[in-house]
Amino acid sequence: MKSPKPYFTNNVFELEESATERKALLDKIQSFSEDFIDTLDTQKAFHYDTHAATERDFFLKINRDKESLDDILAFFKERVVDTGLNPASGGHLGYIPGGGIYSSALGDYLAAVTNRYAGVFYASPGAVKMEDALIHWTGKLMGFSDGFGGNLTSGGSIANLIALHTAKHHKNITTSKASKSVVYCTSQSHHSIYKALKIIGLENCIIREIPLDSHFRISVSALGTQIKHDEHIGLNPFLIIANAGSTDVGAIDPMEKLSNISKTHNIWMHVDAAYGGFFMLTALGKERLKGIELADSVILDPHKSLFMPYGLGIVLVKNIDHLASAHAYSANYMRDAEMENQYSPADLSPELSKHFRGLRMWLPLKLYGESVFSGYLNEKLQLTNYLHQELKAIGYEVLCEPDLTVVAFRLELKNYDSDVLNKIILDEIQKDGRIFISSTVLEDKLTLRAAILSFRTHQKEIDLFLHLLKKIKHQLDI
Ligand SMILES: Cc1ncc(COP(=O)(O)O)c(C=O)c1O
Repeated sequence: MKSPKPYFTNNVFELEESATERKALLDKIQSFSEDFIDTLDTQKAFHYDTHAATERDFFLKINRDKESLDDILAFFKERVVDTGLNPASGGHLGYIPGGGIYSSALGDYLAAVTNRYAGVFYASPGAVKMEDALIHWTGKLMGFSDGFGGNLTSGGSIANLIALHTAKHHKNITTSKASKSVVYCTSQSHHSIYKALKIIGLENCIIREIPLDSHFRISVSALGTQIKHDEHIGLNPFLIIANAGSTDVGAIDPMEKLSNISKTHNIWMHVDAAYGGFFMLTALGKERLKGIELADSVILDPHKSLFMPYGLGIVLVKNIDHLASAHAYSANYMRDAEMENQYSPADLSPELSKHFRGLRMWLPLKLYGESVFSGYLNEKLQLTNYLHQELKAIGYEVLCEPDLTVVAFRLELKNYDSDVLNKIILDEIQKDGRIFISSTVLEDKLTLRAAILSFRTHQKEIDLFLHLLKKIKHQLDI
C-alpha cells in the first residue's frame, strides 16, 4: 500500500532533539559552567573598558544559518561573560550584589524544561502552591499575621510598582485627587519608587522628601510636622515610604515610629526591604528591622540577600484582598480558570503568563534549609564590621555606622579636592578589576561605597580590597 502523502510540509523536527543530542548539548553547557565556576577566583570582578568589544557584536546577531554550540559558547564568553561587571565574583562589592547560587540555576533549568504555567492555579496547581508556600514563608519571616498575600516578581522595581499601585487603589487616589495627594519619602528612597509613581499615574502627586538624621534615616519628627502641616492646608497624605536597607548606605528607617504615624493619620506604610528584608534571618537583623511587620506592604529581593541569580523579587501586602482588588480582571477565555477560595498569581499582579520563578527559590531553600542562609548573612554582617573598623584604621573616613552590610566612605587628603581624589580611587580600583565598588553622592560629595552581600565574598576579598585602598592612598599621599 502506498504511504499517504505528508500533509504538512515541515518534516524536519530539529527542535525536538534526540536523547543523544540533548546529552551532547548539556555536556557542553555543563562543561562551560564548570569552567566558569572553577576559575571564578582568577576572573575579574570588573572588566574595565570592554564596551568596544561589544560594539563589534556581529557574532551575536541572529543568522539564517546554523552555528555550532562550541562557536556560540566561545562568542558568549568573549562578548558577554568577559565584559562589564561580573556579579558572580566574590569581588563584586558594588551597588547591591547578589551572587547567583548554583542550585537556583538548576531550579530555573527544571522550571524551563517542565514549563509549568505558573500564573494560574487551574493550569498548574502545584506551581501556584509552591509560590504560595514561598510567599507564606517570607511573610511569616517578616512577622505578618495570616491574611497577607503576595507575588513573586522579576525584581524589586516591579514589586515596588505592584505595592504602590495597590496603595493607590486602596486609598482611591483617582486622577482628580492626585495633585493634592502626598507621598512621604527621603532622598535615600530608591529611584524605582519614583518610577513606579510615574507609571501608576501619580507623577503629579506631591512628593515630600523628608530630611534625614545623621544615620541617613528619615527624621520622624520632621515627618510628623510635615504631615500635620499638609493636613492643615487641605492636602491628602496617603503614602509613607520606609527604607529597610537603603541602597546608598543600607540605612533602616525606624519602622515602629513610622507605623505609629501612619496609623494616627491613616496613611499606607510601604517598606522597601529589597536589600534588607532577608536579614530577618539573623538576630541582628531582627532587632534592627523591628516594626517591619506593621507595614501595609513590604518588598524584598531574593536576588539580593538570598543570593539568587537576577530575576526574583517579592511583594507582600498585609491584606491580600487589597492586592487582589487592585488587580481584578475577568475575560471570557479565562472562565475555566476561575476558582473560589484560591487566588492565582495572575489575580495578584499585572502578569498572566510568567516565568515559573518559584522553583529557583524553592529548590535552594529545600536543599539547604533557612539556617544555611542565616549563616551566610551573619558572615556578611561580621565582614562589614571588620571592613568598617579597618577602613578607619588605614585613614579613610567612614560616613556612619552600617545598619546592615554597606560601608560608605571617602578619603580626604590635604591638597586634593575631595571629589577628584575619590574619583581617582574609584578608577584605580575598577582598573585593577579584582574588586568592584561603585560610588554615590552623599552630603554633596562623591562617596565610595562597598556593599558586602555576595555569598562568595569572604575575608580574602575584603583583605584584598583593604590592601588596594592602602596602596592607592600611599601613592596619592606622597
Ligand atoms: C532598596 C532597593 N529597592 C529597590 C531596588 C530595585 O530592585 P531591582 O533592581 O530588583 O528592580 C533596589 C535595587 O538595587 C534597591 O536597592
